[in-house]
Amino acid sequence: MDSQEFAKTIEKQVADFCHALDAKLPAYSYIPLASDEMRIKVMQSRLFNEIRAGEIFGGWLKSTPELDVKKTLAEAVHEEYIHAGYLEQALREKGAVPYDYKPVPAQMAMFNAFEGLTDTVERIAAFPMAGEGVADYLIAKSLKAGTVPGWVTEPYQKIHEDEEEHGNYPFEILVKYATTPEKQERAARAVAMSLVLRRQYFDNLDRWVFENKMY
Ligand SMILES: [Fe+2]
Ligand SMILES: [Fe+2]
Repeated sequence: MDSQEFAKTIEKQVADFCHALDAKLPAYSYIPLASDEMRIKVMQSRLFNEIRAGEIFGGWLKSTPELDVKKTLAEAVHEEYIHAGYLEQALREKGAVPYDYKPVPAQMAMFNAFEGLTDTVERIAAFPMAGEGVADYLIAKSLKAGTVPGWVTEPYQKIHEDEEEHGNYPFEILVKYATTPEKQERAARAVAMSLVLRRQYFDNLDRWVFENKMY
């Protein structure tokens, strides 16, 4: 398959996953949450994600031979820690201890799985494209919902602007590098893995936020 066409099939797979979430939005989106206590828990979980995302992108640098991708990853590392700073500040202002949080098991599994990917195309498809694609879809929804309090939407407004600024770079990387059937097949499987694990993370986070269960 032509790489442009391939990138579009992945994009559609991610969009379908996003739309399927609309029927029952996860706690992760903040929209179904009724108290600041719950919102703090979700924000702590998502602060962990910013920290962990930076670690993953940074960890991939040495094994990324493509200089343009290396540069993009390096910038992404820095950006994730800026995002972490926004959430950290919002939590402190709310009287919460930002890092008083243990990742829920499915969240650990998702990031460990990203860390284990070895090929540029599968990495970019699984995490920046599928993982961050879903995250930013839900950020946009929470900003538009009108029911999520300002102390939550304020940091996400800035995070959302950053995500929009680098536009569709994962798509462009796929168009450029997902040029063989082998690479496309691996990338498609990595995206499926990413979405399955994200579903698990959202469900696990729901159980923790709504029922106080770790798994
Ligand atoms: Fe990001
Ligand atoms: Fe981020």
